[in-house]
Amino acid sequence: MSPTLHPPRHNAPTDASSEPTEPARRRFLQSAAAAAALGAAPHLRAQNAPDAAPADTATPAPVPAQPVHLTINGRDYALHIEPRVTLLDALRDYAQLTGTKKGCDRGQCGACTVLVDGRRINACLTLAVMHEGQRITTVEGLAAPNAPSTIQRAFVERDALQCGFCTPGQLCSATACLTEFAAGTASAATADVRTRPSELSDAEIRERMSGNICRCGAYANIVAAVRDAHSAGA
Ligand code: FES
Ligand code: FES
Repeated sequence: MSPTLHPPRHNAPTDASSEPTEPARRRFLQSAAAAAALGAAPHLRAQNAPDAAPADTATPAPVPAQPVHLTINGRDYALHIEPRVTLLDALRDYAQLTGTKKGCDRGQCGACTVLVDGRRINACLTLAVMHEGQRITTVEGLAAPNAPSTIQRAFVERDALQCGFCTPGQLCSATACLTEFAAGTASAATADVRTRPSELSDAEIRERMSGNICRCGAYANIVAAVRDAHSAGA
């Protein structure tokens, strides 16, 4: 009698003893299912968790505009503005004095320099409502029309500008710079800050004008203009 031939089984283990029995296969499948359920549980919990408290996205109620009285270049301005309006925006957008320029709007360039009670400040860094009762001077108020001040003439004669965007701030700053020097105010370039600076050197001028950036790089001529105006008694 010929032997019974079975078809070959591919990948079948050669050791018949390693073939899983039916109960073992069932246990393996049960434990795998349990492990999968555990792994998914945190995700399921996250999906089912109650929503976190919503962020407080309520927009604060706008503060209404209010009357603000400013004295600019010797003239009274009755403005109606929100308390959040900067002095720079009040000058340009409400008082229509657009000589003061907005460069960076964050206190870095000096283009917005104006004088408040004779002291130079960056108008973009202060609120208009804070300056009621003070004297504000912009580039339009440095001199009478058609009668430029000494520092303005010096800027023209020294060709101390190119595009001119920084020039209103430079002029206000230079005006205050000369006043500060005349008052004996020391600067970081003064050799001994306990004494009056003896002369307005180029180093003193550069240091005192260092808050005013000129993107055209007209610095050499600006320093020369300030020096000339000082020599002329400004
Ligand atoms: S616009 Fe104010 S410092 Fe630049
Ligand atoms: S002249 Fe152009 S930025 Fe100064």
